[in-house]
Amino acid sequence: MSWISSLPLYRGKQVLLGGAALGVLCVVLSAGCSEVEHRHGEQRSNPYLTSDTRYPIPLSSPAGKEHRAVMLQHLETIQVIVNALVEEDYELAKGLTESHLGFFMHRQAMAHQQPENFPPAYHDLAMAHHAAAEELARIIPTKDLKQILPQFNNVLKACVACHLEFKVKSGS
Ligand code: HEC
Repeated sequence: MSWISSLPLYRGKQVLLGGAALGVLCVVLSAGCSEVEHRHGEQRSNPYLTSDTRYPIPLSSPAGKEHRAVMLQHLETIQVIVNALVEEDYELAKGLTESHLGFFMHRQAMAHQQPENFPPAYHDLAMAHHAAAEELARIIPTKDLKQILPQFNNVLKACVACHLEFKVKSGS
């Protein structure tokens, strides 16, 4: 550097400028962070609570209970399938997926419920869910988690897709 920077006054200015730049950087960074937090907050807001746009399916009380029982069974089935995968019992995992989540289950559920109360879109989502389960059952014998997990994810996506669209409005 030239002789100017060796002057004490000039060096002082440099420090001052450096400090100001650092200050500006801090403000920008913290603004960025709070924005990220804000967006996080938005993501965390629960669509089921804030803007419930789900279509209510009118079911009689017994049909509503039946529907709930099937759903609780679905969740249990998912857990037992994951358990079977953990224990590397691929045959059991495949069998459960087929019989509890596949098209067979769909026919069972239809027989017990009032299909006329379910709109076509619900039916489509149910079929997509069963199709995803059939595909998972087909892939489980590969015993390759890199193939199994994405398909498992597709099954869960199908659960979530329907939950975002519909709710049950069961009468007394
Ligand atoms: C085609 C539509 C559809 C699919 C597919 C679906 N569900 Fe549901 N599920 C519903 C509806 C509708 C409700 C009732 C939600 C409400 O009224 O708030 C429900 C409720 C539930 C509940 C809550 C039960 C209770 O006690 O209230 C669970 C747990 C559940 N589902 C699990 C699953 C799982 C796991 C899957 C996938 C393997 C799945 N569901 C797939 C439509 C679906």
